[in-house]
Amino acid sequence: MSSIETTRLGSNGPVVGVQGLGCMGMSEFYGPTDTEEALATLGRALELGVTLFDTADIYGSGANEELIGPFVRAHRDQVVLATKFAIERRADDPSYRGVNNDPAYIRQAVDASLRRLGVDEIDLYYMHRRNPEVPLAESVGAMAELVAAGKVKHLGLSEVTGPELREAYAVHPIAALQSEWSLFSRGPERSAVPVAAELGVALVPYSPLGRGFLTGAFADAGKLGADDFRRHLPQFTGENAAGNAELVEPIRKIAAERGATAAQVALAWVQQRAEVHGLAVVPIPGTRKRSRLEENAAATALKLTAEELAELDLIGGRVQGSRYADMSNTSDAREV
Ligand SMILES: NC(=O)c1ccc[n+]([C@@H]2O[C@H](COP(=O)([O-])OP(=O)(O)OC[C@H]3O[C@@H](n4cnc5c(N)ncnc54)[C@H](OP(=O)(O)O)[C@@H]3O)[C@@H](O)[C@H]2O)c1
Repeated sequence: MSSIETTRLGSNGPVVGVQGLGCMGMSEFYGPTDTEEALATLGRALELGVTLFDTADIYGSGANEELIGPFVRAHRDQVVLATKFAIERRADDPSYRGVNNDPAYIRQAVDASLRRLGVDEIDLYYMHRRNPEVPLAESVGAMAELVAAGKVKHLGLSEVTGPELREAYAVHPIAALQSEWSLFSRGPERSAVPVAAELGVALVPYSPLGRGFLTGAFADAGKLGADDFRRHLPQFTGENAAGNAELVEPIRKIAAERGATAAQVALAWVQQRAEVHGLAVVPIPGTRKRSRLEENAAATALKLTAEELAELDLIGGRVQGSRYADMSNTSDAREV
C-alpha cells in the first residue's frame, strides 16, 4: 500500500496524513495490551504515512506517553505528536474524573508530559476537557505561554462548543478540535463544525469507529472483560446495545457491496465530512494491532457515493443512549 494523502491541521498547523493513530487502547481501556505489537503498530503507521499520533496524560495514568516516547524520539522529524491535559484521576477511585483548567495546573501538566515523553516540545497540545468555572481566556492564555516558551508548537481543544472554540481562537490560533464524531455521534455538527470551518480549524474525530461497535467487533459491552471501559457506556449496554447493533447493519451491507469492511465504511464516512463541511478532517482510529492499522489506513482510498452517504446519514438520529454515563464534562452539556 502506498502512503496515504496529507492535509494541514489548521491554517498554520502541521501537515499530517489524513488519518492519524489513536494510541489510548495500547495502554488501557479496551482489554489486554501487548507492548511489542503496539510498538510494531506505531512503526507500521509511519510506513503508511499515518503521522499524527494521539495520546494524553491520563491514558494509563502516564503509561501511554511513556510507551510512545521512545518511538517519537526515534522518528522525531516525521511524527506529529499530540497529547492532552485537564483530566485528573484518583488512584483510589478508578471512575473519578476531575477537570482542571487552572493556569498553574497547565504549567505543571505540560512539564510532566514532556518528561514522560522524553521530548523538548509537543507538536499539538490539547485541553482535554473544559471546566466552565475557569475563564477560557485564562486557560488558553496559559497554553499560549507554552507556545512562547517553546514547549508546545500548536494548540488544540477537545469537546468544546462552537462559541467556546471562537472565544479560544480570539486568544490564540487553534490548530485542531478533537471531538467524538462518527456515524453514531453527530454532536459536533451542532455548533463546533461550522465555527471550525469558518476559522480554518481542523477536526480530529475521536472514536470514529464508535469504540469498535461500528465494526461489529462486539454487540454488547456487558460481555466484554471486567475492566473494559466500554462496559460503562450506555450506548453499548443492555437494551440500547441490542437496538444500536441493528444500526450497524446498513454499514455492513454497504461494506459487502463495496468489497470493504464495516470499519472502512465507517472511517470513509468520517473522512468525507471534509468535503461535506469544508474543513480538514483527520480521524484518529485507535488500534493495538498492525493488521487493523493497515485495514484502517486503506479506508482513506474508499470514496462512498452520495447515495451511500445519505443512507449512512440516517443512522445517527436513531442511536439510543448517551455516549458517556456522565455527560456533564462533554460539549453536549454546554450546547445552547
Ligand atoms: N479527546 C477525547 O476525549 C478522547 C476520547 C476517547 C478517545 N480519544 C482518542 O481517540 C482515539 C480513537 O478512539 P477510540 O480508540 O476510543 O475508538 P475507535 O477508534 O472508535 O475504536 C477503537 C476500537 O476499535 C477496534 N478497532 C480498530 N480498528 C478496527 C478494525 N479495523 N476492525 C475492528 N475493530 C477495530 C480497536 O480494537 P483493537 O485495538 O483490537 O484493534 C478498539 O477496540 C483513542 O485512541 C484516543 O487517542 C480521545
